[in-house]
Amino acid sequence: MKPGIALLASEVAPLSKTGGLADVAGALTQCLHAAGHDTRLFTPLYGAIDRWRFAPQPLEGLQRIALQVGPHHYEFSVARTLLPDGGAPVYLIDCPALYDRPTLYTADPDEHLRFLAFTRAALLTCQRMGWAPRILHCNDWHTAFGPLFLKTHLQREPLFARTRSVLTIHNIGYQGIFDARAIADLELGSRTHLLHQEDLRAGRINPLRQGILYADALTTVSPTHAQEICTAEYGMGLQDSLRMRQDVLTGILNGVDYAVWDPRTDRHLPKHFDPDRLQVKTDLKRAFLDRMGFRVPVTTALAGIVSRLAAQKGIDLMFGTLPRVLSARDLALVVLGTGDAPYERFFAELAGQFPGRVVFQQAYDDELAHWIEAASDLFLMPSRYEPCGLNQMYSLRYGTVPVVRRTGGLADSVEHYDRATGRGTGIVFNDFDPPALEWALNSALDLYAEPAEWRRMMHNGMTRDFSWGRQAEKYVEVYQRLAG
Ligand code: ADP
Ligand code: GLC
Repeated sequence: MKPGIALLASEVAPLSKTGGLADVAGALTQCLHAAGHDTRLFTPLYGAIDRWRFAPQPLEGLQRIALQVGPHHYEFSVARTLLPDGGAPVYLIDCPALYDRPTLYTADPDEHLRFLAFTRAALLTCQRMGWAPRILHCNDWHTAFGPLFLKTHLQREPLFARTRSVLTIHNIGYQGIFDARAIADLELGSRTHLLHQEDLRAGRINPLRQGILYADALTTVSPTHAQEICTAEYGMGLQDSLRMRQDVLTGILNGVDYAVWDPRTDRHLPKHFDPDRLQVKTDLKRAFLDRMGFRVPVTTALAGIVSRLAAQKGIDLMFGTLPRVLSARDLALVVLGTGDAPYERFFAELAGQFPGRVVFQQAYDDELAHWIEAASDLFLMPSRYEPCGLNQMYSLRYGTVPVVRRTGGLADSVEHYDRATGRGTGIVFNDFDPPALEWALNSALDLYAEPAEWRRMMHNGMTRDFSWGRQAEKYVEVYQRLAG
């Protein structure tokens, strides 16, 4: 029999989403489920989850369960729903006191408790169901205490005797650090020596580091990033712990859920296209320019950005570069994103400076994200670091040429276009500095002015295959290695 897999994720598309983790948690679960694994995905029942659309069903015997997290007392219930497009089961941890907040993540003082409680509640739910997963697959800092809890709280629980843990690092920039004075919240009793002592001495507890130290296997979301995070440049202070565990660390590139992100079937688009129907892409671009209030002809190159506006995404490189390139070249820009105030201000000012040529939507809007992928000619992702990145892979499918920095998953999914051979799928630059981005943008616009070259590059990208199937197999290999 295939081993049971419990996946824990703090966000899951299409129920709750702030970024790529949600896409990955949803799609990987679907793939494993479709391959016949007994896969159960656990996630918090946030206030924002659409109860009407997803109709979570309360589970009998799993209502009003008392949960103690150190000195804090909670009560949670479990509801179940099925992921649309495939029917994998999702177990929702319902605890309004913790998850009914205006946003998925908060800066509230109990943020660490929200996710410690979630991790504990998920494990307790497995116990109550009498269901022993062979694999406990945790994701990012939110659930990174799962592996240590298996080895401590659940050490004597026969149900979990054969359970092995995997931690996937989607974003090493977020570690969930909290004050060591809250140590009692971990309920480690006399086993606090299992915490990273240097962190403790510095007065902090770092959930992501604890996961790195105790998971039976570690993965991150691209092969290049698996190397990068072991270095001081990309390790965000965790490189030493990662190097210690490098023998169990693998990089597995994320896949794309083509049921959601494919111009042949995209449910947000009124018309569909593929490499043989590129006129439709131009029609969509025309309609989009019109709808968004652009005042440029359809021949003007349109660049798109869909992003969390965070330091990770390399927006700083655009400060000087974009005004210069927009002044010099025939370029229009659409930006969809929210995040840090300086970046929001920058794009708002840019739109004011180039009316009719730059449009900034300060919003989170799934439909618009699909339209931007479909209507744009190029897609900008000059990230400082990018564990995988999904939008560049979506862009490839939509014939929207990615302009990316050679880092992490961007390096593993976009190949720099070479005129001499006609090979390559995008524009890739190396250095994290403004001249490099400016070079990349100008190179892209030069190629755009040569329709035959541009079409070739588009075609190369549109015919690449990043589907989940093969990638999910690589997770299964990791699970099988652990399950023996
Ligand atoms: P990250 O997880 O670092 O944010 P990824 O590229 O892996 O980066 O994934 C981002 C996901 O979030 C994509 O599916 C993208 O379309 C989506 N996204 C980001 N910002 C927005 C937004 N403002 N509106 C709609 N979708 C967004
Ligand atoms: C993260 C990363 C992104 C990755 C996503 C899903 O948030 O920033 O690069 O694609 O997780 O793994």
